[in-house]
Amino acid sequence: MNRRRGRAAAAAVLAAALLAGCTPVAQNGDTVSLPAVVPAPVSIEAGTGAPFRLTSATAVNAEADAAAALSAIVEARTGLTLASGDGAGIELRIDPSTGSGAGNAAESYRIAVDEASVSVTGADAAGLFYGVQTLGQLIARDGDEWTVPAVTIEDAPRFAYRGVMLDVARHFHPVETVKAYIDHAASLKFNALHLHLTDDQGWRIQLDSRPELTEKASGTSVGGDPGGFYTKDDYRGIVEYAASRHMIVVPEIDMPGHTHAVGLAYPELAEDPSVSDHMREIIRDYGGDEPRVGAPYDGMAVGFSSLKIHDEATYDFVADVFGELAAMTPGPYLHFGGDESLSTTDEDFAEFVARASEIIADLGKTPVAWHEAGAAAGIADTTVGQYWGFLTPQEGAAEKATAFVDNGAQLILSPADAIYLDMKYPTGPELGLTWANGPTSVERAYSWEPSDVVPGVDDSGILGVEAPLWTETIRTSADIDTMAFPRAAAAAEAAWSPATGASDLRTWASFRERVGALGPLWTSMGIGFHPSEEIPWVTE
Ligand code: ACM
Repeated sequence: MNRRRGRAAAAAVLAAALLAGCTPVAQNGDTVSLPAVVPAPVSIEAGTGAPFRLTSATAVNAEADAAAALSAIVEARTGLTLASGDGAGIELRIDPSTGSGAGNAAESYRIAVDEASVSVTGADAAGLFYGVQTLGQLIARDGDEWTVPAVTIEDAPRFAYRGVMLDVARHFHPVETVKAYIDHAASLKFNALHLHLTDDQGWRIQLDSRPELTEKASGTSVGGDPGGFYTKDDYRGIVEYAASRHMIVVPEIDMPGHTHAVGLAYPELAEDPSVSDHMREIIRDYGGDEPRVGAPYDGMAVGFSSLKIHDEATYDFVADVFGELAAMTPGPYLHFGGDESLSTTDEDFAEFVARASEIIADLGKTPVAWHEAGAAAGIADTTVGQYWGFLTPQEGAAEKATAFVDNGAQLILSPADAIYLDMKYPTGPELGLTWANGPTSVERAYSWEPSDVVPGVDDSGILGVEAPLWTETIRTSADIDTMAFPRAAAAAEAAWSPATGASDLRTWASFRERVGALGPLWTSMGIGFHPSEEIPWVTE
């Protein structure tokens, strides 16, 4: 697939409709009324008794992190401040035996609510955090009061890796915006933030070994907008903030293509831009200038840049960059891109991928690459592939993706025509692009099954699911929210919930009701979601 990034009119978008309040919602096609939880849990059973009432006297018995996470949600949603102490109505605790019956204890939790008490038990700190997120979704308004319905929930993730990606290269997004996205994504049980830190348009991470990258190649964004970069302290702050929400950070340095910015700082490492007739056509259609040696690039074309493949200095650069990133990244993954290297020959691409993946593996990290890198026979066999083809794979994408699994590694699924969050909605904001079979409705974002995407790759070959947000047209935190929500919730359900067919809740009819019930919670959390007309939003 050759992506065509269209230049959408980047008009300012109105904040999502102000929706407040909440009522539990009946699940479609079911006779019992169940509270709405997204992503759908493994099991949820409504109790028969009266709900638990949240009041100004309600106290929570928990260790500090879990108590703080719950207090923040309760305060935002209800205005109530929870006290803390023994004999409290709400108990939050960790018990490693939780969820072992489901065969997947990590990140699992159990919730039991009756009229007298609320109990949330996590198998580990992450499980408890996810139980708290679910509890936040259960809080309902009852007139002037707040209740939690009587219910029992047992829950554990389907996939270990549940990611969102933010492109901070096409438009730079400051630390506060990244932290807000972490908060919003963590509430849907995402546990990985992939930062696309570099591209033709800018280099966004300060490195001591290569200071000119940010000095000379970070100043602009697409359309001539201002650029920026993260200092090492900024990056560490993001990593710490993510960890406090049980998310890892996966830094991506895209190579050997998508590297025009490298050439601004270190011209000796980069080939001159290679502008094909096909690219000229794209530039004509969508506007912007042609890339020029030594000048920042602020257009939207792709595929014209490459590092020099046959120069040892390139591999010194790769080792410096990933060595420094490895030291500041506690998570196991370093992403080296590998997509759309359209001006690098197949042989050169294979040589580069083999060496870059080996450099990362030698640092003790797991390399990650977009699925094109699967074509390289010499790729380090621990490399995780990230599939960004369509739901029906085209042009050899499935074969390249399958190569990672044949090597004994796994895939992250990011089907572009379903969960590329930068695709335009059918109606609504004038943001986003359409090249991935867009516009992309919430229903399309939801209606796919991970084990059906790459033929022959079932759950054992799937590490997880990630929803990328490219930012050619996305400038602000509000833009991010409106493109991501509610479609990120569809990706969260693909990543966390049982397979379609394995749960009555895993239908579009159920999802649209459940996600609609989250409107008041999202509003109270400051999530400026797109009030898509596909969803029956609850407003109070
Ligand atoms: C991609 O969308 N080029 C990974």
